[in-house]
Amino acid sequence: MKENERERNVEPDHAGEDVASPADIRKVTHIESVRLSDDGGSVVIIDQTLLPGRLEYLILSDARKMWEAIYKLQVRGAPAIGIFAGYSIYCLARQSRTEDPEEFVQDFREKKDYLNSSRPTAVNLSWALNRMEQVVLAHRDRPIPEILDLLRQEAERIHQEDMEMCRTISEYGLSLLKDGDGILTHCNAGPLATSRYGTGQGPLYLGKERGMHFRVFADETRPLLQGARLTAWELQRAGVDVTLICDNMASLVMKNGWVQACLVGCDRVAANGDAANKIGTSGVAILAKHYGIPFYVLGPTSTIDMNCRSGADIVIELRDPEEIRSKYYREPVAPEGVKCYNPAFDVTDHELITAIVTEKGICYPPFTESLAALFGNNFSPDGNESGGQSQADMPASGL
Ligand code: MRU
Repeated sequence: MKENERERNVEPDHAGEDVASPADIRKVTHIESVRLSDDGGSVVIIDQTLLPGRLEYLILSDARKMWEAIYKLQVRGAPAIGIFAGYSIYCLARQSRTEDPEEFVQDFREKKDYLNSSRPTAVNLSWALNRMEQVVLAHRDRPIPEILDLLRQEAERIHQEDMEMCRTISEYGLSLLKDGDGILTHCNAGPLATSRYGTGQGPLYLGKERGMHFRVFADETRPLLQGARLTAWELQRAGVDVTLICDNMASLVMKNGWVQACLVGCDRVAANGDAANKIGTSGVAILAKHYGIPFYVLGPTSTIDMNCRSGADIVIELRDPEEIRSKYYREPVAPEGVKCYNPAFDVTDHELITAIVTEKGICYPPFTESLAALFGNNFSPDGNESGGQSQADMPASGL
């Protein structure tokens, strides 16, 4: 069967089902938002911009299309972007026609830099690309076909590790919750954004598998509606009790006593625990503090950037104003040309975070110490090697 035929057959219609069987949970937690094609020449992704209306797959082998897939959020969520970057750079390296090792390295670096310029905030992008580059550099004396084999293995390892990390993070996260808890989520940190269980939403799927019941309030997450389009879709398919709310309803829901914990993912965590995540996250954390509700940030150690001393070092992506004015709406919802400020992320101050949950354990304040302990105190932050980009490297807006 051809790749695209197989993809079209993946999606059964679950509309109207409200009770999830273990098989349904498996369907959600085994969604493959990113994978290598069977012939190893392309990367297959779920086009997340079309959900929840259409579950369609894209098969990508062209560098520009890969760059656009990240920029346009067809593939999104920090870990998924990292996995995608690993497979993409492998596919692009395969396309290199040179037999000269030095030219191969040079070509690899150009492609790597190009992919890395697509989005600045999620550290997983540069983290995965740097891992792939290390493979090339460590084996530059070997024949190119051997280097390609090693690159494929490394990309698969990044993916496999993420699956394991998500599962472990979900276990740790679940240990912080009680059956019957009300949970507030922001953005999407589930299977689509990662692999398998997810990070921020991972405990909810694991709990469901174990017969626990959570009442989840999913912030819609303006302007790109990842909460409404993706989190609500994933949780509903899995039979988790989910209620969608507009972002500005979170304080009321908390005041009503309906929320016992907030669970969010992260795109880059600084050495002091400041955590960049989808715009609006820091507002949720401020509300949670006001109402005495624990605020948990969940993410793999690949999202912790010890070279960023604090959130002030994290580059925040600015996006196309059209996302606020008209995207996802039948009619524009703002006057044409009105000035908009559209940062894609904000940084939650470490003082607002109850704990950071990683695959290596749960870190509590003071984060400067608990995060350093995760890395064996073996790092030396210098502020220059975060692997991120400066704002100046980014396109002003749009493509
Ligand atoms: O702009 P997005 O949709 O890529 O932003 C995603 C988030 O902010 C997620 O919460 C974060 O990447 C964690 S995903 C496990």
